[in-house]
Amino acid sequence: MSVNILGIESSCDDTSAAVISDGLLRSNVIASQKVHEAYGGVVPELASRAHQENIVPVVSEALKRAGIDKTELTAIAFTRGPGLLGSLLVGTSFAKGMAIGLDIPLLDVNHLHAHVLSHFIRQKEDDEVPEFPFLCLLVSGGNSQIVVVRSAYDMEIVGKTIDDAAGEAFDKCAKVMGLPYPGGPHIDRLAAEGNPKAFRFSKPHIPGLDYSFSGLKTSFLYTLRDRLKEDPEFIEKNKADLAASLQATIIAILIDKLKKALEAYPVKSIAIGGGVSANSGVRKAVEEFCLRHGVRAWIPERAFTTDNAAMVATAGYFKYLEKDFCDLSLPPFSRVTV
Ligand code: KG4
Repeated sequence: MSVNILGIESSCDDTSAAVISDGLLRSNVIASQKVHEAYGGVVPELASRAHQENIVPVVSEALKRAGIDKTELTAIAFTRGPGLLGSLLVGTSFAKGMAIGLDIPLLDVNHLHAHVLSHFIRQKEDDEVPEFPFLCLLVSGGNSQIVVVRSAYDMEIVGKTIDDAAGEAFDKCAKVMGLPYPGGPHIDRLAAEGNPKAFRFSKPHIPGLDYSFSGLKTSFLYTLRDRLKEDPEFIEKNKADLAASLQATIIAILIDKLKKALEAYPVKSIAIGGGVSANSGVRKAVEEFCLRHGVRAWIPERAFTTDNAAMVATAGYFKYLEKDFCDLSLPPFSRVTV
């Protein structure tokens, strides 16, 4: 009999459900929430309400596309945290209710582990997956981490942001440029037409493998403030160059610590994950870095960089193989604890 895992993701503003059968992805449905656009950021209460509306149709659609009836499910994997508590509660409660109804086991998944394990999403039998150990640069709207991945269960965060995440740097700078939320993809698009050396923004001097992006944000803000005094049209006239220079600085900061991490943990592969790993410049820079250092680069499909349930189901499948089921009493958690 096939092992069919349903994955449910509801940690932030995407409601997603996916089905994997015997380790192969059969469906991955994502409902993104447009309601936050008007506010320039995710509004937690609105996110929870939208999850409530989306969860039943999204799960039904994932099962339908997979061609699997709910009674054929073997286990249900859900994102337990970190994320927005109200949002997590919707997915967690739904997963628990469905598992009780079907009398099948539950698998709790750490959202950040799932991003790392997105490289193990297989769509065909011969799809390759990374060999352990590898380094993963995990860059999203809420986290920037360098993780040593020794196995699907053994991950060590060896570097993390001490303030803003890389995605926040993209989004907050984009916001002051008047771009819509989330700004990362807009900066990416504009940067393709700009000169990355047009402006210089400050880079942090933090020892070790930790990141910091708040200084860059401040320096970006001050540049805009000073130049706008001279020319009120400054942003409009220099949009592409500002985006290209900002993106280049973020990439330089990311690669600098990645280089130090590779020296400290000499592995054969480097993977990237999280929303910011959709960025064209980040993808290219990591590929070039890996080529220069003779290590293999694992760059995820863009669909698996932002929040998705395919990675949750995949992380759940690893747990299923270990029979590492969770108890119905387990509550969601909002902060990074592991
Ligand atoms: O992993 P993710 O979907 O969820 C959160 O952690 O919230 O990441 C979202 C982040 C946002 O900051 C968004 O601006 C950024 O990923 N992002 C990008 C791109 N696509 C998404 N940043 C830069 N370039 C992109 N193409």
